[in-house]
Amino acid sequence: MGQLFVHQMAIGPADNFIYFWGDAESKEVAIVDPAWDVPFILQEAERLGLTITTILLTHGHVDHVNGVADMLKTHDVPVYLSANEHEKYRPKVDLIDLNDGDKLTIGNITFDVLATPGHSPGGMCFLYENHIIVGDTLFVNGCGRCDFVGSDVNAMYDSIHGRLMNLPDDTIIYVGHNYGPSATDTIGNQKKTNRFMLAKTREAFIKERMG
Ligand SMILES: [Fe+2]
Repeated sequence: MGQLFVHQMAIGPADNFIYFWGDAESKEVAIVDPAWDVPFILQEAERLGLTITTILLTHGHVDHVNGVADMLKTHDVPVYLSANEHEKYRPKVDLIDLNDGDKLTIGNITFDVLATPGHSPGGMCFLYENHIIVGDTLFVNGCGRCDFVGSDVNAMYDSIHGRLMNLPDDTIIYVGHNYGPSATDTIGNQKKTNRFMLAKTREAFIKERMG
């Protein structure tokens, strides 16, 4: 098992968190959700001595993908997005389908792909040991909105309560936006402070999310 490299960057007007995610030894990484400021991302990759081998998308909303085409100008790398993402949110580039249960390898790191639809039909999380990139499925003390085209609040309940909350309590979450009191947290802490996790029933969750 390789050692994970994960690096969080807060970029852009929507408080997005963008990540390098890959192999600490070879310094090969994916750029997760490249958006807003590609020159800065490339500068950071150079400063950290990283080689970007992959573009990974947690979902296709524009604030997560508006740097993909620019990234491809300098990096001819595969772009992975859920096979289930809504047509409206699919960037106009060559895409490789991701499905629940897929495994992807970067350097010596092989990680799991978990489908977590709800905020968007193509919501995906990336799990390696006790680290998980959750995109907009979960925020620190929050979760993604479920009132967009393609959103499904029932699916969101299943993704959070049926999947993410079943992960070990020490799992560290890497969220899609800097909306919370801290940049990261653990599943165990979130179970105590996140009102969407504290909602005891599906109905309570739906009420909390949709008002
Ligand atoms: Fe989103």
